[in-house]
Amino acid sequence: MQVTRQDNRYLLYKESTLIGQAELDGDRITMFTVQPQWRNRGYGSYLLREMLRLNDGFARQTPSHFTAPAPENAAAAALLHKFGFSPTGEADGSWQRVRSPDMTAVELCHRFLEGTIPTGGTFLDATCGNGHDTLFLCRKASPNGRVLALDIQPAAVEATNRLLAEHGLQGVGRAIVCDHRDLGHLVPPGTLDAAVFNFGWLPGADHAVHSAAESTLPALQAALDALKPGGVLTAVLYSGKVIGDGEKQAVLEFFRALPLTKYTVLVCEFANWASTAPLPCFVLKKPFQAGL
Ligand SMILES: C[S@@+](CC[C@H](N)C(=O)[O-])C[C@H]1O[C@@H](n2cnc3c(N)ncnc32)[C@H](O)[C@@H]1O
Repeated sequence: MQVTRQDNRYLLYKESTLIGQAELDGDRITMFTVQPQWRNRGYGSYLLREMLRLNDGFARQTPSHFTAPAPENAAAAALLHKFGFSPTGEADGSWQRVRSPDMTAVELCHRFLEGTIPTGGTFLDATCGNGHDTLFLCRKASPNGRVLALDIQPAAVEATNRLLAEHGLQGVGRAIVCDHRDLGHLVPPGTLDAAVFNFGWLPGADHAVHSAAESTLPALQAALDALKPGGVLTAVLYSGKVIGDGEKQAVLEFFRALPLTKYTVLVCEFANWASTAPLPCFVLKKPFQAGL
């Protein structure tokens, strides 16, 4: 089964036979049909899902809006309902599907950092990936602060440095190839205002290359040592089929064991999402530490 797109038309093939078609005019579904002999077998669902997916209908960070004409029969209404459409209440009987972006773990970290870390500070991105966190930190550091970004994958480092150059921020931040477990060799203790970790794999690359507890735990300890008093560490933890949950559990154990006299630790679960949803965590190094 395959859906191919020709301009605003979506063609559903079963092997080489065309068995369904749909048309999307802007956000309006203007035509949707499956050959009668192929109905009630899930092909309509497949065609509609693909058409929505190809138009960001399932993207978590992009709003989307689709409309459909009044359904011709109960089966058409059931199909629309299955994909989150509901009647608009307009006289023409049209239906619509509206999706607002979900707050992501990364966005929550950025919002928290935005209100917490100093403009012109010194920051570390310990998992720079495609550079979005580094870019955020560089904007916050600019013009006088500095950002160091690390990744084990050269492709990630290149992508990050390219992104910084595109935004004219190459003088503020730079990415280098480095396992973050070695960050203590690069960043002296007590010098960072913030350290950012976004674990997992590089989006768009081989998922088999991902962060793992054996590097993650020493890296987190080194980053905490590198924070100034009052500094902040954020970490987004992942679990799931590919990555398992060993790293996530090890990090949670590490965070829970940090002494309350020195750190405030927050683990901010998305309570109405899957248990595998990204887990944002915040560690605040106390400005005045008991016993010092
Ligand atoms: C989810 S991505 C990070 C996304 C990134 N912060 C962004 O804004 O695009 C995770 C990154 O961690 C990197 N990584 C995994 N293990 C690492 C390690 N031991 N040291 C440094 N980077 C590592 C991966 O190569 C991957 O690029």
